Amino acid sequence: MLTLIKHLHIGFACLTIIGLIVRVYWLLYYPQKLTHRLVKILPHINDTGLFLSGLTMAIGFGYPIFAVYWLPLKLILILFYIGIGFIIFKTPMASIYRFILLVASLITYASILWLAINKPSI
Ligand code: HEM
Repeated sequence: MLTLIKHLHIGFACLTIIGLIVRVYWLLYYPQKLTHRLVKILPHINDTGLFLSGLTMAIGFGYPIFAVYWLPLKLILILFYIGIGFIIFKTPMASIYRFILLVASLITYASILWLAINKPSI
């Protein structure tokens, strides 16, 4: 069962980054698409699935959350990633700054992936 949830989690993780890139592209070139109801709702559903599947695994695999340092670090990076996404979409700014923030969120996402796959211990 946990293996299935892990596959789901990886699926949600892929969708979250694809969704971000597509939405930033639309924001820059087709902003009217962002007003569609589904475009507003689907990212929240995906993020909830990502979080709940991660939480289920953390409990299911029996991780003592603050004793495995990669997990809280991953959660801090996720908050940072969410924050950058929020600024990209909610703050008016020149396209070049949005692009720079997109690059920052890709680097953050890559760091989250690295932590998730390597699970380093001190
Ligand atoms: C952008 C957000 C996230 C990304 C990109 C991501 C990515 C991944 C990936 C790729 C794996 C599989 C690693 C492997 O091959 O072993 C994984 C596993 C895992 N993730 Fe996430 N994740 C994210 C969010 C979360 C959240 C929010 C939580 C906790 C609430 C979480 C907890 C876990 C746990 C517990 C595992 C299982 C590790 C294991 O196999 O022992 N993840 N994550």
